[in-house]
Amino acid sequence: MPLLIFSTSLKPVSRSRILARAAQHAATAVGGAELIDLRDHPLPLCDGATFGLPAVERLSTAIRGATAVLIAAPVYNFDLNAAAKNLIEHTGKAWEDKVVGFLLAAGGQRSYMAAQSFAGSLALDFRSVVVPRFVYATRESFSGEAVTDPEIQARIVALVEAAQRFGTALAAAPAPR
Ligand SMILES: Cc1cc2nc3c(=O)[nH]c(=O)nc-3n(C[C@H](O)[C@H](O)[C@H](O)COP(=O)(O)O)c2cc1C
Repeated sequence: MPLLIFSTSLKPVSRSRILARAAQHAATAVGGAELIDLRDHPLPLCDGATFGLPAVERLSTAIRGATAVLIAAPVYNFDLNAAAKNLIEHTGKAWEDKVVGFLLAAGGQRSYMAAQSFAGSLALDFRSVVVPRFVYATRESFSGEAVTDPEIQARIVALVEAAQRFGTALAAAPAPR
């Protein structure tokens, strides 16, 4: 099973999408990763009656089949953007026992704990296993379409390797009775 990376920014030009692509590139060293851009899979706002949509089924299947899932998202209002939350609301149970990691693009340094409540909700609701390595990058770490900050690049590689390691180990562990 490969890694799965979600790019959740709906903005045409997006720094979190650059992080997602950099993670996909880094993943070639650990077996590869599929990148799903939410702009290519439009979802309505979840209202509790939209679960049966074909797009939801496709995304749930991709999540279920992945070794681990990385979420590359913009920070909005000290949290992940609403599109990322809408994805979770739609695909809920697919995240059960799933290894999950985060790559965040932000406007400034002050929101560096932005993934905390989102990660907590995945852990509490679905027993997702959150990789304790985070990528958090601001404008200064990019040039054009590239991540130019060596520390952020190293963090991307470390996150990808850890997600693959955690995911593989969890898949090999005997399921609880
Ligand atoms: C509605 C909105 C809310 C934002 N809130 C925050 C915030 O709380 N903290 C922060 O550091 N940046 C915030 N930003 C800046 C974005 O995180 C930043 O522009 C980031 O690059 C967006 O990611 P993207 O380029 O992948 O779309 C906000 C931007 C928008 C549009």
